[in-house]
Amino acid sequence: MKYYITTPIFYPNSSPHIGTAYTTVAADTLARYHRLLGDNVHFLTGTDENAQKIVRTAEAHHTDPKIYVDGVVDRFKELWKALDISFDDFIRTTEERHQKVVQQIFTKLYEQGDIYKSEYSGWYCTPCETFWLENKLIEGKCPNSDCGRDVELLKEESYFFRLSKYQDALLKFIDEHPEFIQPVSRRNEMIRFIEGGLEDLCVSRTTFQWGIKVPFDPKHVVYVWLDALINYISALGYPDGENYQQYWPADVHIMGKDIVRFHAVIWPIILMALNLPLPRAVYGHGWYLTKDGGKISKSRGNVQDSFELIQRYGSDAIRYFLLREMQVGTDGTYSEDNVVERINSDLANDFGNFISRSLAMVVKYRDGVVPGSRQNGPLEQELNVLSQEVKKAVEESLNGCDPASALEQIWHFVARCNKYVDETAPWALAKQEDQRDRLDTVLYTFVECIRIMAILTAPFMPGLPPRICPLLGKDERLIRWEEADQWGIIEAGTRVQKGEPLFPRIDVSQYTTAGETKTVNQDQNQALEQIEEHVPALEFEPIKEEISIEEFAKLDLRVAKILSSEKVEKTDKLMKLEVEVSGEVRTVVSGIAKHYAPEDLVNQHVVLVANLKPTKLRGIMSQGMILAASQGEVLEVLTVNKDLPGGARVK
Ligand code: MSP
Repeated sequence: MKYYITTPIFYPNSSPHIGTAYTTVAADTLARYHRLLGDNVHFLTGTDENAQKIVRTAEAHHTDPKIYVDGVVDRFKELWKALDISFDDFIRTTEERHQKVVQQIFTKLYEQGDIYKSEYSGWYCTPCETFWLENKLIEGKCPNSDCGRDVELLKEESYFFRLSKYQDALLKFIDEHPEFIQPVSRRNEMIRFIEGGLEDLCVSRTTFQWGIKVPFDPKHVVYVWLDALINYISALGYPDGENYQQYWPADVHIMGKDIVRFHAVIWPIILMALNLPLPRAVYGHGWYLTKDGGKISKSRGNVQDSFELIQRYGSDAIRYFLLREMQVGTDGTYSEDNVVERINSDLANDFGNFISRSLAMVVKYRDGVVPGSRQNGPLEQELNVLSQEVKKAVEESLNGCDPASALEQIWHFVARCNKYVDETAPWALAKQEDQRDRLDTVLYTFVECIRIMAILTAPFMPGLPPRICPLLGKDERLIRWEEADQWGIIEAGTRVQKGEPLFPRIDVSQYTTAGETKTVNQDQNQALEQIEEHVPALEFEPIKEEISIEEFAKLDLRVAKILSSEKVEKTDKLMKLEVEVSGEVRTVVSGIAKHYAPEDLVNQHVVLVANLKPTKLRGIMSQGMILAASQGEVLEVLTVNKDLPGGARVK
């Protein structure tokens, strides 16, 4: 299946901010999700450069518009890179590939009578790049809810596009395609707007020259919105480019609510006039507002440097915040406190902690080797069913362009997994020899749950798979969407690692909202903290009385190679070893039988106290002692590199 998704093209009159980033992060998430489904995805973004406000801003900077936008466009590209945006194409409306298509379409619409010449007399809001009739103004200002700025009176010769002619056809299309304008609240708004009557749209300007020239009347430049909307097909190489054949119509145009009107009215009418298929969906999300309710925007001066934020918290955390906080059909509130809160509660406490805590237990109780699972019970069955439900719900949410509820579902699974840890209490199972199989099952289930989380979160936080997969001893081929509700994918015997915490907690005491925010990563490993809560504190043997270096020098420690090994009959602790040291073979009896299988010791190079007085143990003369480290139930024989021969000194 092909999947074509677009963001709006952004005005490069100022650098992008965290509010503008939402659309692009959301589109990227959908693009990544569809790639995981195996779809042939095309993801387009770009910049809208032929606007009057670009000319104004460049003038204010005493520079040429093209030089000015080149600089800002670089900032957009850098931000998208920092946020891991995987676009397939980036279109600039100053590119020739775009300009020639706009000119071709303008000429065609003129020739077929859908564009005609007349005179515009009315108002224009340059920040919104919108024409307004006198009766729409509010107290003489721009009526856009987030604008309210001064408008200018225009009286100039212009070309007009016959929107009115297509009004009924558009209403009929919207009626027959309920999924065309989403969510439903925007659809209703648009229907009311169209039913209110469409005026023909002024589509050219003569009072400035920056823009795409009307080819047959070059004192006119094409109105920026007509020009901009065409990017969605010019980038594909309309009319006969291979990409156009392959990807048009778009599966979804995603954008903020302020510009749905252009995409749900002007754009479909352009396409109808050209007799081209209409996009399948136009999705209008809310805005990110500040805590005091204002829209985040450069002109309001409430914009925080997005690069700094990403550097401080990481791209995945910022993406998570943006996607999680904006509920469908409503606005989201942005503040750095909210970001920190989401990181600490959802990412560090719930998600990261489950992963590091459960991997730490596999390391602690099974030396990092994933055990086989033989005792699945009702709890495992419940997780299995939940993973199926969650995968389905995530798919439905993403099909409806609703990343927030998709994440909510995933976190439902994360919460259930954390509860599973408490319910199964692996630290208690580890103390009971007859619970070995049950502990194996629990540890195996942990690893499967992490795998499922890694898959489900991959489209939202693309930085995670390269960090989580190696912990599971796998590469990113583990991220297979179709396996997000399957169990038994990780093989027993796989080696896992505990790794660094994925999302270190932000120390709130170090954090101020006063602008100069400082964050300190708490370095403690949460997993260990959690485990240690349930394991009694370690009791160490007291350190013995001091000895002199001469006394130490009396010990003759040597490397010894183990030639053979067998358990001493009728004991469960003692192992009889034949070792080679300085060209002779000795017998050593060692109390390590509970911790090693005899065959695991053969060919190991261990450390032998070679001058210890021989002693008889269970009737066997033991000629020395091998060194081992131990604490509580854990014991490990000290081994050295095999290049050191038996007999080498240890000092
Ligand atoms: N150039 C036009 C789009 C042309 S598409 C053919 C434009 N550009 S814009 O740069 O002003 O805005 C681009 C997108 O950013 C819009 O979808 C707008 O809603 C979104 N946002 C700008 N500020 C935003 C927030 N504070 N929050 C969420 N989205 C925001 O419009």
